Amino acid sequence: MAVMTAATPSQSPADRRVSARVGSISESATLAVDAKAKALKAAGRPVIGFGAGEPDFPTPDYIVEAAAKACHDPKYHRYTPAGGLPELKAAIAAKTLRDSGYEIDPSQVLVTNGGKQAIYEAFAAILDPGDEVIVPAPYWTTYPESIRLAGGVPVDVVADETTGYRVTVEQLEAARTERTKVLLFVSPSNPTGAVYSLEQAAEIGRWAAEHGLWVLTDEIYEHLVYGDATFTSLPVLVPELADKCVVVNGVAKTYAMTGWRVGWLIGPKDVVKAATNLQSHATSNVSNVAQVAALAAVSGDLEAVEEMKKAFDRRRRTIVRMLNEIPGVNCPEPEGAFYAYPSVKGLLGKEIRGKRPASSVELAELILEEAEVAVVPGEAFGTPGYLRLSYALGDEDLVEGVSRLQKLLGEAV
Ligand SMILES: Cc1ncc(COP(=O)(O)O)c(C=O)c1O
Repeated sequence: MAVMTAATPSQSPADRRVSARVGSISESATLAVDAKAKALKAAGRPVIGFGAGEPDFPTPDYIVEAAAKACHDPKYHRYTPAGGLPELKAAIAAKTLRDSGYEIDPSQVLVTNGGKQAIYEAFAAILDPGDEVIVPAPYWTTYPESIRLAGGVPVDVVADETTGYRVTVEQLEAARTERTKVLLFVSPSNPTGAVYSLEQAAEIGRWAAEHGLWVLTDEIYEHLVYGDATFTSLPVLVPELADKCVVVNGVAKTYAMTGWRVGWLIGPKDVVKAATNLQSHATSNVSNVAQVAALAAVSGDLEAVEEMKKAFDRRRRTIVRMLNEIPGVNCPEPEGAFYAYPSVKGLLGKEIRGKRPASSVELAELILEEAEVAVVPGEAFGTPGYLRLSYALGDEDLVEGVSRLQKLLGEAV
């Protein structure tokens, strides 16, 4: 819950405890669900967690070994330049060319404490108070908070299951005002798993370029696309965007490295310089040893992610099929990342075990209590009436968890 601490005339600044700016930030709902599920589990309850967006695989050995070696070398016990190890920046530039065909200079890279810090710093570097950012919804819960912290104004553009959660240029154009500065773009998407076709992405990119807008494109799930879906980096599809485009990426999802905390942003040199200055005062460099691990990751091949992808694809098909078997649940097929985002509007207001959940928050609470299954309600992503389930958990747990959902929600009358 947000803690509002707006000043009242009788209050002196010293009486106000938490600043209004930071006090208005909500807790990350996804991390909160995960924490609750882990606490229940620690108390001995057999909770199955679909909450957290992290692969269940260990980080590949060659990456762990590179880090272990660095731990024993005093060279890596020191600060690095605030913007990252030069060899890692060069390797990120090489990886970006290899994977996306996007040619950049290492000076256009800032190594950050995960993709999250990259997003925060990119908005902080670009936005002035009152600048509007168009945010397609359902959105990842961190985007609006980081926009607001930077003084910006998030403007939601909502897409629902009927379009596979993809917004159109017409919708974006309807949301554009003279205050619009940035379009946020993410494909594959968290929380919906939606992937834009190359034509759709190019049309959106051209629209942004035509209106001189900046684009922040989050490419953290670039390697996790299934079936016929393909990923292409937006500034490669629409090269005229490059001068006003910030690309966010990281090692967390591709190499099962969520806990190592290494991400990066790529952008025009002036923005990267400004964001690096900010980071130099806020956190300095990312852990030196973690940067060495990321260097091994991005310099290596993509075999590990190909293996994970096979498992995710299998789980994806299972979860979508099983969810759609539940009356009142409608789950379009996600084509990327590792999330399913079913509509549960058909269940709201119905009676389940003596309760009538009126919102997806209440339904998620009921599911946790009665089925011991953790899911994240759509309210966290700007669209009530939905649930997000991460399918980056083991096959057996996945089937057991969704079977529990089938049993519980099948009782709705
Ligand atoms: C869309 C998206 N972007 C960025 C991130 C940030 O990842 P990290 O900070 O772990 O690198 C996440 C993590 O869940 C995500 O889902």
